[in-house]
Amino acid sequence: MTRRLALRADLLDFTGDPGLSTVDSPAVRFDPDCWLLIEDGRIAGRTREQPGEDWDQRDFSGRLLMPGFIDTHVHCPQLDVIASHGEALLPWLERYVFPAEHRFEEAAAARDGANRFLDLLLAHGTTSAVVFPTVHKVSVDALFEAAVGHGMRLVTGKVLMNRFVPDYLSDDVEGAEADCIELIERWHGKGRAAYALTPRFAPTSTPEQLHMAGKLLARYPGTYMHTHVAENMDEVRWVAEIFPEARSYLDVYAAHGLLNERSVLAHGIWLDDADRRLLAETGAHVAHCPTSNLFLGSGLLDWVKLQDAGVGVSLATDVGAGTTLSMVRTLAEAYKVQALQGVKLTAWKALYAATLGAARALRLDSEIGSLEPGATADLAVWDWAHGPLAQHRDRLTRHLHERVFAWMTLGDERNLVSAWVAGTERWARG
Ligand code: GUN
Ligand code: ZN
Repeated sequence: MTRRLALRADLLDFTGDPGLSTVDSPAVRFDPDCWLLIEDGRIAGRTREQPGEDWDQRDFSGRLLMPGFIDTHVHCPQLDVIASHGEALLPWLERYVFPAEHRFEEAAAARDGANRFLDLLLAHGTTSAVVFPTVHKVSVDALFEAAVGHGMRLVTGKVLMNRFVPDYLSDDVEGAEADCIELIERWHGKGRAAYALTPRFAPTSTPEQLHMAGKLLARYPGTYMHTHVAENMDEVRWVAEIFPEARSYLDVYAAHGLLNERSVLAHGIWLDDADRRLLAETGAHVAHCPTSNLFLGSGLLDWVKLQDAGVGVSLATDVGAGTTLSMVRTLAEAYKVQALQGVKLTAWKALYAATLGAARALRLDSEIGSLEPGATADLAVWDWAHGPLAQHRDRLTRHLHERVFAWMTLGDERNLVSAWVAGTERWARG
């Protein structure tokens, strides 16, 4: 029998790219006080009329319902070191991150960590993610198993790193290749799981290991490539030293066959015009991590140049360099990063980058990121305002963009009312 569910709320999603700074965008679809219809976990349509008794009904009227957020770059094991003081990227990795990732070599720690992580994503309204586990195979199995348990769409894969890291985190080319093949065959394309070849970043893989990753990316259709690029100026200088033949940092990945339409590159702050052209040509995209970039003092993303070059940009928390799992807070910080450069990012563009824009960049827009019929019902329901200040401001808003912008600037995970994965409520406040 068909499982029928109807949710009443103010429905908001996007039908296209709203552009960076256009407040009056036709790509915004807003249906206040409307019923979203869901059949067998997929969106079936919407109606203003109350559906009949053959529909399970949940009334969230007066609240905001959107597609669940997609966090395109976040590190599961780094929950343990979020908010660690005093270092920029490279010493921060050595001092805090590597010891924390060591703990995930134990299967029990990896499983606990993975379940805590996915519980917390849902508690922040994030229903899909592209995730760094650790170099350990058990950390990948733990994440995929936890994602099955949560019903969530997840992209992840064993971290590759075979030099300039502590021995306890170092793999090698042959062992890593065998692990990747085993994990791809076990998980890739099973249910909502997709595998990502995941070199940590160029400096910590030998050219042989990067070549191996590129070979597997080509051999297994639909796999992703997930890494970091051009985040920090010391990092960029280091890459230039150890890859003297490369034209740029990004070029290291290109030279090893690692750029295609399923490549997710976190940060992309210190790119040049040729890099941006290469990203556009290959269909690779940048996961923008504003709270991380501010916290580590890495720099400010030039979103205008990426947009003008035709490069996709999604939004990501990058915990534990990022300071929150909340994509709402991340939207607000993305606005500030553009404000520092004189750009007026709209709430529309920020939200698009965290929903449909991310789904498009991941080539998953038929499944996630919108309220379009046929999409999986991965949803989040939000209070328009939490607490007396936000409620006061909300009452004074005069048009939709003003209201949504105040929501994203003042809101956070406390606004979340419930989170749904494939039409099942997986998290509810209280
Ligand atoms: N570059 C290489 N590894 C990392 C990491 O764990 N976090 C961030 N922010 N950048 C990186
Ligand atoms: Zn990262």
